[in-house]
Amino acid sequence: MRLADDERAMLDGEQGEAVAAAMDLLVRYGEVLGAERLVDTDNVCGANLFGSRHSLVCGSPTPDGAFSEHSLDAPRELVIPPVKAQSHQLIGPMDTKHWRVQGLPQDEHDEIMASEQYNAEHGIHLLNTCTPYQVGNVPLKGEHCAWMESSAVVYVNSVLGARTNVEGRESTGAAMLTGKIPYWGLHLEENRRGSHLVEVTTPVVTNRDWGLLGYWIGEQVPEEAIPVVDGIERTPDLVRLKHFGAAAASSGGVEMYHVPGITAEARTREEAFAGRAPVEHLRYGPAQRSEAYEHLTATASDTSVDLVMIGCPHATLGQVRDVVRLLEGRRVHPDSELWVFTPRALRHIAEQNGYARALEDAGALLMSDTCPAIGQFLPKGTRVIATDSAKQVHYLPAIMNVHGWFGTLEECVDAAVTGTWRGERP
Ligand code: F3S
Repeated sequence: MRLADDERAMLDGEQGEAVAAAMDLLVRYGEVLGAERLVDTDNVCGANLFGSRHSLVCGSPTPDGAFSEHSLDAPRELVIPPVKAQSHQLIGPMDTKHWRVQGLPQDEHDEIMASEQYNAEHGIHLLNTCTPYQVGNVPLKGEHCAWMESSAVVYVNSVLGARTNVEGRESTGAAMLTGKIPYWGLHLEENRRGSHLVEVTTPVVTNRDWGLLGYWIGEQVPEEAIPVVDGIERTPDLVRLKHFGAAAASSGGVEMYHVPGITAEARTREEAFAGRAPVEHLRYGPAQRSEAYEHLTATASDTSVDLVMIGCPHATLGQVRDVVRLLEGRRVHPDSELWVFTPRALRHIAEQNGYARALEDAGALLMSDTCPAIGQFLPKGTRVIATDSAKQVHYLPAIMNVHGWFGTLEECVDAAVTGTWRGERP
């Protein structure tokens, strides 16, 4: 790999041992990937909140030790300087307000809070969400970023036209300290062209429609594919594309897509493919939608619902408001729970707007910073969940050994209120 002078200086230790270790990691990582050089980045999203699980693994009780081991893959504890690039904490293991609901012990809470404080002292912005693009981190078209979190990556690549691969904790940790990331994959113009044409022949309008379409596409195309979704008649919004991308990135490995006329790098179908012919032509109609639904809800049979989860990826304020409106005059069933997840900053606004209070009055809970899949927590005894998120219903049955229903927001809130799944097959 060719290194610029500033990169060589960092590697040689001019900025200290931790920066040298970070640069060493990026060089090794880039060489394995076949990158010829690094690229500057001033927009990094990673995950550096550590609890007891992490300190057990690295055998160090200090946050420097945890960062060295888990975020830099360093062989020993280093003194970590403040971050160089603008850096952001993604989703973490704990809701700092409702951690007792998660069942976390006091010492675990204290350890994660100390880790959060450490991040703040090092200049990492505590966005604490899988949707940084909702709370102030909206990269520009063409901006080189280094982000973890597949649902966020597919959103910023596709909808915004920013450039990032799906990074890991170590590469983002190193990018935070150096402001560099290997220049390969989706950083390169030629790797961002459409590859598979998906012709949509059935209306795709609601959040559920977009989730099913994304889930189906993720199952059909190979990891490196960039699907071009043609035939969309109604312009979607942030929530629909958030659901779509998250679904495509969970049933498969989609990191970027184009919707001609809607997403950043595809004013037309021709522009999406940049003059190349599609390698495959797929059609999505009613039969494919049913197929996606059957796959998604393969575990579901018992209609008694223990938990309804809304907010994967983290809910917008509008989604929180919609739950509040659907609950008006109703209460969550005594045998069910309704949890709504949103970014920390949006929870603050939701509290000021009275949404958090309205949810609590109806027996629901507004949570932030985490989610059941990442934090691996559910209400005690949960066997059946329902959600409006294809991603969450894809992961929770596998991770937490539960059965899952998938439906519209209205169907999910109905399940929370009645304790019974009464959703319809699409
Ligand atoms: Fe976010 Fe958790 Fe879903 S990280 S995308 S809410 S699985």
